[in-house]
Amino acid sequence: MSTNTLTITQPDDWHLHLRDGAALASVLPHSAAQFARAVVMPNLKTPITTTEQAIGYRQRILATLPGHLMFEPIMTLYLTETTAPKEIDAASKSGVVRAVKLYPAGATTHSESGVTDLGRCARVFEKMQQLEMPLLVHGEVTHAEVDVFDRERVFIDDVLIPLRRNFPALKIVFEHITTRDAVDYVQAADGAIGATVTAHHLLFNRNSLFIDGGGRPGMRPHHYCLPVLKRETHRCALLAAVASGNSRFFLGTDSAPHAKGDKEAACGCAGCFTAASALELYLEAFEEANALDRFEAFASFNGPDFYGLPRNTRRITLQRANWILPAEFPYADKTIVPLRAGETLRWKLQG
Ligand code: DOR
Ligand code: ZN
Repeated sequence: MSTNTLTITQPDDWHLHLRDGAALASVLPHSAAQFARAVVMPNLKTPITTTEQAIGYRQRILATLPGHLMFEPIMTLYLTETTAPKEIDAASKSGVVRAVKLYPAGATTHSESGVTDLGRCARVFEKMQQLEMPLLVHGEVTHAEVDVFDRERVFIDDVLIPLRRNFPALKIVFEHITTRDAVDYVQAADGAIGATVTAHHLLFNRNSLFIDGGGRPGMRPHHYCLPVLKRETHRCALLAAVASGNSRFFLGTDSAPHAKGDKEAACGCAGCFTAASALELYLEAFEEANALDRFEAFASFNGPDFYGLPRNTRRITLQRANWILPAEFPYADKTIVPLRAGETLRWKLQG
């Protein structure tokens, strides 16, 4: 394989925030230019809690898609403590909804309707287990006494391990993992478990929240996401995990757009916008890990294999080429600042 050109099966994004309305129209073309499919997160202002809502949201996404682009949104339901087992039946029958998302209440953007007590969801988990409907977990506890940087580690011990003991056949995706603890857990666990890894958690550690690329101190709100970036040892563990070729790890950008002013604020929103250059960012990480030959399976095979969906057949080419990522993109009637705004990227998607 030449190191200047990479031709691979077209990837999918197994974790994406598309928003709605004019914001959706602004960000959707970026993802559709890179990915064939994406798992669309349900955390809209009014969360997508029913199959009927998911079908409506999917129609709005498809109606917004520019005619020249092919893109399949894979829909999810937002789990609440009042989600009924029959809603899981409806989701499964729909052929449109392929997973259910667990947000611990208070964990992140629009998670107010999330779950505080998993015990209240037992009948739903039984139904999901029976229908092989995956549960996508935002793996953080939200108790005030737990340090924000420890939220993922504590989630594994206090929530994930007991959940998987009670529902051993429940398919789980541990979303946007950020720690060595999560890597170790996913590698060692029995049963059906996968994990998505973002480009930003592969490329940056928590120093980048407080220091710019030139080493100057300063708050960098565009690097703030949840789960928050962790220390370098954790980033290295994530890199090693994806470089290992373990098929449990797959691509999920967690691209999460917020208008510039909502990020650059006294209480800025969490989320990194990476959709416009997702594959290019991932390739920089894989190159750092000396693992370009592992990228295709991570980006294009492991996700569909986990979900039991066909792999894509179209191929895409990425070329080594320096280009400058724009400082901002339009975002409804505002703008959005992408991760690595105004910086030189080293790979470019062709076509
Ligand atoms: O940083 C994040 N932003 N993490 C999430 O879990 C949600 C997301 C969003 O929707 O903005
Ligand atoms: Zn997310």
